[in-house]
Amino acid sequence: MRLDIISIFPEYFAPLDVSLIGKARERGTLDVRLHQLRDWTHDVHKTVDDTPYGGGPGMVMKPEVWGEAIDTVIGSGEPRMIVPTPSGRPFTQELAQELAREQWLLFCCGRYEGIDSRVMREYGSRMRVDEVSIGDYVLAGGEVAVLVMVEAIGRLLPGVLGNACSVADDSFAPGAMQNLLEGPVYTKPPVWRGHEVPAVLLSGHHGKVARWRRDEALRRTVANRPELVAAMDPDTLDKHDRRLLDELSFRVEPEDVAN
Ligand code: ADE
Repeated sequence: MRLDIISIFPEYFAPLDVSLIGKARERGTLDVRLHQLRDWTHDVHKTVDDTPYGGGPGMVMKPEVWGEAIDTVIGSGEPRMIVPTPSGRPFTQELAQELAREQWLLFCCGRYEGIDSRVMREYGSRMRVDEVSIGDYVLAGGEVAVLVMVEAIGRLLPGVLGNACSVADDSFAPGAMQNLLEGPVYTKPPVWRGHEVPAVLLSGHHGKVARWRRDEALRRTVANRPELVAAMDPDTLDKHDRRLLDELSFRVEPEDVAN
């Protein structure tokens, strides 16, 4: 997969040299190309922003410099363009999977109040453009959001993770324990500072381990993300799940109600 990233701070992307993503780049699975937006300015100050039309605080990134940068980077190609912004559509595991199937992604990192909207309109008429938010908080710019997205997408590429099962087990992977967060995990030693590993995990009883994991996943999801439990298809809850949710005082639709 080819990834182009245009930013006024390409040095933000140094972490892409390390770990899984760094290895994927060394192997050629990922071809990451960083570009300094200011290389496409023409004034001595290398200006990339200007005051917003209509007034208001902050500065807006100029369309001309973005246009020249994108034209040069894409040539006659048509990558899928991603613009990180807190006003974008949410970045989810599902979107990460969709993007992992693309051949070529172009990330355009805005700073300040964002990029002049005409840039997205211009390229949106030629290729797929998505404005994407990584969460309901405001970062100082899109760079960190792009790091997040590249890591989430990169680890889904074939051969990037050693163990293919780890992707299938992810909390938000389709077909994983649907809508449930992953429960706690343990390794050796069996007792650490007086804290014991739950005995069931040492029992070697696969059925009991699976049941225990599901219980813990349900407990954690009720505690941390109750809206995910509320959104579960009630048909996927067995008697044991219902009993546990009842113990946790979490209300679900009763079973077998006649309509
Ligand atoms: N830029 C600033 N905040 C952001 C966010 N939450 N997601 C994506 N890009 C951003």
